Parts: sequence; C-alpha cells; structure tokens
Amino acid sequence: MQLRKGQILEFDIMALAFGGAGIGKHEGLTVFVEKTMPGDRVRASLTKIKNNFCEADLVELVKPAEERVKPQCPYFGTCGGCQLQFMPYEKQLELKKQQVIDAFERIGKIYNPPVAEILGSEASYYYRNKMEFSFGYDKNMEFALGMHLPGRRFDILDLKECHLQSEFSSSLVNFMREFSLKKNWKPAKVMTNEGFLKALYLRESKRTNEVMLNLVTSEELPLNFEKDFEELVEKILEVPNGEDKKIVSIYWSKVINRGGAPKQIKEKLFYGKPALTEKMILENGDALDFDILPQAFFQVNTLQAEVLYSQTLKFGLLNSHKMVFDLFCGTGTIGLFFAKHVEQVLGIELNEQAVQAARENARKNKIFNIDFFTGDVGKVLDNVRERPSLIVIDPPRAGLTEKMIKKINDFGANEIVYVSCNPATLARDAAWLKEYGYEVQAIQPVDMFPHTFHIECVCYFKR
Ligand SMILES: C[S@@+](CC[C@H](N)C(=O)[O-])C[C@H]1O[C@@H](n2cnc3c(N)ncnc32)[C@H](O)[C@@H]1O
Repeated sequence: MQLRKGQILEFDIMALAFGGAGIGKHEGLTVFVEKTMPGDRVRASLTKIKNNFCEADLVELVKPAEERVKPQCPYFGTCGGCQLQFMPYEKQLELKKQQVIDAFERIGKIYNPPVAEILGSEASYYYRNKMEFSFGYDKNMEFALGMHLPGRRFDILDLKECHLQSEFSSSLVNFMREFSLKKNWKPAKVMTNEGFLKALYLRESKRTNEVMLNLVTSEELPLNFEKDFEELVEKILEVPNGEDKKIVSIYWSKVINRGGAPKQIKEKLFYGKPALTEKMILENGDALDFDILPQAFFQVNTLQAEVLYSQTLKFGLLNSHKMVFDLFCGTGTIGLFFAKHVEQVLGIELNEQAVQAARENARKNKIFNIDFFTGDVGKVLDNVRERPSLIVIDPPRAGLTEKMIKKINDFGANEIVYVSCNPATLARDAAWLKEYGYEVQAIQPVDMFPHTFHIECVCYFKR
C-alpha cells in the first residue's frame, strides 16, 4: 500500500526505542510514535516516511497499556521533560535494560551480553542538583519563567512547580517571578533588545543541602538594578523552606555579547561564598568533597553518580593496579576516587576549566598522586610514556573512534572500565575493542535520569 504523510494507521506498540519513542509494526513496517509504551494500541498520523521505517504522531490511544500510570507533574506532555512519567518506574528500568541488550546484539553483534539488572535511582523525583530556568514570554505573550517549549525557540512554559530539583527550588522560581513582576523587570527579547532577564540557574547540593542562585541578565540594565538586586538578596533569603536547605551563594552574571567578539560572562558574587560544596560518598565508604563554581561541570544526579562511581571502582579494583588512566576525566571525579587505591593516576581532559577544577578538587581532598593533562585524548596520549594496567574511559555521547581505540590498545593495559551515556556507541566500541582482544566481562546499567530515556552503563573489559 502506498503510504502518505498525514495518513492515520492503527497498530500495537511492542517495544521502546532508545530516545523514548514507542515502536510498533504496521504491515511489516516499523513505526516510531512518541508518548507511547509497549502494550498501547494507538491510532497515529504519519509524519515521516522512509524505506525501512516511519514516524507518526499519536492521535488516539485506542487501548492504553494496563501498566500506564498518571504522571505526577501537571505539565507532563507540554513541558517536554521527563517524557516517560506515564510508565511505572520499574517498567522504565526494565525497558532500559532491554535497550542495552538490544544495542549490544544489534550494533555490537555481541550476543547474550552479560547485562546486570539496572540500578534504579532511589529518588525518582527531585534528584537533580542543577536546573536552568529561562525567562521569556508564554504563547500569550505574558511574562514567563520556566522551560523552553519543545520545538519552539522562543516560547517559554511558565512553571509554577517542577519535580526535578526540590520543592524549595520551585519556591525560589515562584519568588523570582513575583519579584521581577513587582519591579517591572522584563525578560530579554532577542530580536528587539528589550528587557534584560535571561535565566535563573539553581544549584543544590544533595549531601550538604547548600543552594546557589545565579541570575543571568543581558547588559542593558535599569538604572536601579544593583540596588534592587540587594533587595532581592535580602528577600530571597527569607523564602521559607521545609527542607533544611540553605542559600549559601547568590550571583549575578552579565552576558556580554558584542557582535563578532566571543560571548563573555561577567560574574558578580552578591552574597555568600563563591562555590557550593558537595560531598560524594561511595558504597565502600570513600568520601570526597567538591567545590562547584557557577559554570563548572558536575554530575547532575549526585546520589546516582555515587552509585555509578561505586560500580566503576568495583570493576576497576577487581585486581590491583599501580598506574591507572582516567580518560575524558572532566573535573577528575573518577580518578580522584581511584587515587586512594593505586600508586598513580593520570587524567586527560579537553576542557581547560574542568582540568583547573580537577586540580582544585585534588588539592581540597589532599590527593597528591594524580596528574591532569589538558588536551585531546588522542593527541595527549602520543606524548605519554607511562604504562597503565587499567584504563578508565568516560567519553561524551559520540564514544570513541577507531583511531583512539588503536592508541589505547598500544598502552598494553589488560583491563578497561568504560563508562558510557550512550548504549549505541558503547556497543559499537565494544565490537572494536573485541578486535584487539578485549572481551566484555560485565555490563552494569545505572539509571541517572528517571523518567527520561537516558541510560548510563559501566562496562568492564578484560583480555
Ligand atoms: C561524560 S564527560 C566525563 C566527565 C567525568 N568523567 C565525570 O564523571 O565527571 C566527558 C568529558 O570528555 C571531555 N572531552 C570531550 N572530547 C574530548 C577529547 N577529544 N579529549 C579529551 N576530553 C574530551 C568533555 O569535556 C567532558 O568533560
């Protein structure tokens, strides 16, 4: 049958694709439909038609899957975040584990991969330590502070509550909205240069309950802005919270955007201390403190990052090691946890700020047997003489390249622990590693982002 866009088909959803769409079959053709889950019978309208698959928009849930639950958030479906909220958390975990198995079999051609039960997040809501709320206008051109609507460049969803960070975080957003409206502060409009409010960044340490607030504006400010900001500081410190949280740091960041020149951000600390302190405690009792500056990278789900790193250490310390490499080390967290157990760690990271933070973290925790190098992993490795017996890798979503894998192989380590946020590239790289004799021994998925399609894995290779 000739298919056309807009045509409505009825079929059952049988699986969940990586990316969060439900997968159904219509007369042998694979159809992807967002906002559906296995067990749903749907009517869906075709939006994209390719040779071997189609995409369609959900028109009607003819028969919803029995397992469906009511999403906790009133903005579900509009906001675009937490896409899987209509599935019970246990079901999400089951489907994510299956996606890891499928990726290894389909992409890596590694059959019956040793995938362990996924480690779910104890808190499936209020798990994020960092949120970025944008100022703008809603679709009725009313003042809004919240999230960008999916697929819309300018429209902002005015969020009165969000279940990702904490109740206190929502109270701060609501306070900020009221205060701005009272002072007649306006969101920055990209096209007309009107207004100046850009974003509200909130960070919240989960182990120490410290809160950092950062108001981001453009350059064109009202005359009394700094005086009003002092009033804001005074009042926001009085926002009630029943969660024992404490605002320890308030910043104002001005974005300087002069045509042609690179964008600059000028930060001014208005209240409290410059960095937020977070603690991480691993299953074996190892604990480290981290100072987090406003723009620094830090794992977003602190408590699950502890689970992820505990697992990384578990695999990495199955045998004893003298020299360990931490490739793509970011702010050094993984390497710093290894340092206590081995003679020497060497971290490599492209981002200079992250390396600075990594060195600070080492100093703060009195760890002296770790060195960090700034640069591209592939290039830096060319000048490294040390020989590790274990290599830990935590690359971005794109994973490794064949060239990098060849270089890694040249170092002669017999063990690799690969931390990955993308099962597809992990599976591809596992197949490449296999060509050099590295066999997958164990795969531990960890759910860092409940209600989203993201999956993190720790994979242990040996030869
Ligand atoms: C997934 S993060 C890992 C962060 C760190 N392991 C952690 O847990 O905090 C990936 C890191 O790789 C860095 N990166 C990306 N491409 C790189 C490259 N070619 N060479 C070195 N580092 C790179 C990024 O800046 C980022 O910090």
